[in-house]
Amino acid sequence: MPKRKENWGSQLGVILAVAGSAVGLGNFLRFPGQAAMHGGGAFMIPYFISFLVLAIPLTWSEWALGRAGGRNGFNSLPGIYALASKGRMPWPFIGACSAFIPIGVSMYYLVVEAWCLAFAIQYFLGFLTDLGLTVPSMLAGTNGAGFNLASAEAYNSFFESFVGVGYNGAMYRDALGHFTFTPLMGCTIFCVALNFYLIYRGVSKGIEAFCKIAMPMLVVCSLLVLIRVLTLKNPSPEPGHTLLDGLGYMWNPAQPGHSFWESITNPDVWLAATSQIFFSVSVGFGLIITYASYVRSDEDIALSGLTATVSNEFCEVVLAGLMILPPAIMFLGVSGVEGNLGTFSLGFKVLPNVFEQMPFGQFFGFLFFFLLFLAAVTSSLSMIQPSVALFEEGLNFGRKRSVCLAAFFSVVGSIMACHFTKGMYVLDTFDFWVGNFGLFILSLFQTILIAWLWGPKNMLQELQFGAKIRIPAFICWGMKYVSAPYLVIIMVMWSYKNAGSYLHEVRENPLAQMVVGYLLFSMLFYMTVTFFALRRWKSRELTNNE
Ligand code: ALA
Repeated sequence: MPKRKENWGSQLGVILAVAGSAVGLGNFLRFPGQAAMHGGGAFMIPYFISFLVLAIPLTWSEWALGRAGGRNGFNSLPGIYALASKGRMPWPFIGACSAFIPIGVSMYYLVVEAWCLAFAIQYFLGFLTDLGLTVPSMLAGTNGAGFNLASAEAYNSFFESFVGVGYNGAMYRDALGHFTFTPLMGCTIFCVALNFYLIYRGVSKGIEAFCKIAMPMLVVCSLLVLIRVLTLKNPSPEPGHTLLDGLGYMWNPAQPGHSFWESITNPDVWLAATSQIFFSVSVGFGLIITYASYVRSDEDIALSGLTATVSNEFCEVVLAGLMILPPAIMFLGVSGVEGNLGTFSLGFKVLPNVFEQMPFGQFFGFLFFFLLFLAAVTSSLSMIQPSVALFEEGLNFGRKRSVCLAAFFSVVGSIMACHFTKGMYVLDTFDFWVGNFGLFILSLFQTILIAWLWGPKNMLQELQFGAKIRIPAFICWGMKYVSAPYLVIIMVMWSYKNAGSYLHEVRENPLAQMVVGYLLFSMLFYMTVTFFALRRWKSRELTNNE
């Protein structure tokens, strides 16, 4: 049996690490746009149903399975899946795919993390020195509270040229093809190095130590931005520019052009709400299972699980829900925001207009992008740890070699996403295949494994051990009869809607073939590691778990 290597230092540490894993770009960039695009208040009904039916039971099940795995000496997903299925095939190999999904997401997540850092630095430099090169000063001369097309266009083109939407290789060469060291390149190298250094430091000294500082800082930065937003004076006497107009746009159940019933009966709204819950709570990524495998056996995982999940919802619904769209509506009006609700547009193109116009905008712009950066790092760290655990256990590698191998897989994917920036096609293709398709399928398998093979009884017993709160048994049984069927329905609807067009892309587009080919090759490697690991993990140990 592989030897148990590490533990979290404290219960608070593990709660902050799991909450940090959940609170990320999905909360601050993706959620407000998704909510506004899919009916505002009407979106929140499927959102909360998915939260209750999927997020709560699934996260608890991940905590339970993870700690049981850790107690039996396994931190890697193939090991834990083998344990839960009592060594039955093909579960350890499904575990290998689950360990691969998060590193697949890290391939493009690290790239966006670097954008956040680079934007924070742009604001910081502008705030301190007013070099005349920063984002806000590019737009000197924009006026009033009304929507200013020139300003929006300038921020739009700034973002697109900054990240290289126009041509491939923009991160390291200019439009004439000459090599140039761009700020974004420096930020990307820094983000990759920071993540892998912290992972190398270990679960307690690296991840936990960082999250204990970063999470409180993130909340303080968010509260400062939020107080600024909620105390803004109406920028224009014209109707439609008050804070209430902004809040109404985000939360009213009936939106202009869509009645409440129209939104709530639209399958797309249900799909969007479920995907948001998955991405945001980090459920189905295998991250919580891996983190929970380092928890001490007698710790209260029921309370820790609930606290981490609820903290994520606080950051998403309360902080991000109030902080992002309302000021955008106040300053730019509905017409300035509509059509720009996509994940990147809202954060990187629309909000800079708002910072430019609000008092102390440069400072608040810096705070906002810095908090995004912190949120992204605490999430990307958790995406790397499942691979490191697999290489440590499966190949018997030391930490250094495991971290280097995980870095290799992640960095090759990131290089593709950094080089092929034209139209953001490669980044979107990665996101579709790992962040959506892979995530849905493997969550479904994970739910089946826990609810049907490991069983609700084991889950309940594990959760109750050391718990100060009582978990109602129906939550564990509900996984079997409610969560799993709900996921199947969502999966079928989602595939019917999306998979066809992306499969067509894979047949036709060499870039899509490159991305999918690399993902399949890497996944095959993870499965091969599992194959050799299984020969070493004796079957006796896999069937002896309680
Ligand atoms: N849960 C992480 C996020 O929301 C992945 O970004």
